[in-house]
Amino acid sequence: MYIKVHGFGIDYTLEGPKTDTTIIFIHGFPLSKEMWKPQMEEFKKEYSVLSYDVRGHGLSDVGNGQYTIEYCVDDLFGLMDILHIQKAVLVGLSMGGYIALRAVEKHEDRFKGLVLCDTRSEDDTNEIKIKRAHQAKSVKIYGMNKFANLFLPTALTQNNVKKRTDVFRRMHDIIERNSSNAMAGIMIALAARTNTTPFLPSIKIPTLIMVGQFDEITPPSVSIQMKEKITDSEMHIIPDAAHLSNTENPDEFNKYLHKFLKSLD
Ligand code: MLT
Repeated sequence: MYIKVHGFGIDYTLEGPKTDTTIIFIHGFPLSKEMWKPQMEEFKKEYSVLSYDVRGHGLSDVGNGQYTIEYCVDDLFGLMDILHIQKAVLVGLSMGGYIALRAVEKHEDRFKGLVLCDTRSEDDTNEIKIKRAHQAKSVKIYGMNKFANLFLPTALTQNNVKKRTDVFRRMHDIIERNSSNAMAGIMIALAARTNTTPFLPSIKIPTLIMVGQFDEITPPSVSIQMKEKITDSEMHIIPDAAHLSNTENPDEFNKYLHKFLKSLD
């Protein structure tokens, strides 16, 4: 469904029975809500589930190609308000985790639980900011096919990359459909995001942290550091998965998410 949120078009999928708590899935960069298919299919059997395309991605508007994580957080609250979602469990992977952490920092009372997947609370180092600047320039010149071929070997297990598995092809298709101008704009937004680390010890809602065993973009050591700072938190390493743990090992990912959701009842 396509809806205007404060005048900006956001595409979302809302499924499952009407339950008190909605589970909201926020995808990573440079993907779309399609990456949450294994979770939407599974959890809609029992819960109200919402996934949406972060502005610039998927079927949401591209606008003028200039974004901030703050805009993305405002979109999330705008969407929750329009859909009358009072309380949610927020599940964010990588960039989705950046958005989720900032949203909880702003209005923790709107959330019942937080799930941080393959993400980090720190902002970009100077080295990464410089890398993003180069990537933002080259994605506009060489396009999304080339970018997907560079990104996926860093984000998926060697098995998925070498064998060009179904997972690889599905992720490639999602990335290729995104606009290169929009992805360049998102890279600048990622580089300009705030550091939410000082906020971690104040998080009061139960938090589940999951990370792929072979994640090199946001490695398990980074998740361990977040776990140490968040009082009411648990952490699980997802085997046979790299940065896109929900897609590479959905059975294991869903098992821990199920347990966490039950613990919130
Ligand atoms: C993502 O998966 O969302 C990105 O890898 C995040 C990032 O580049 O910081």
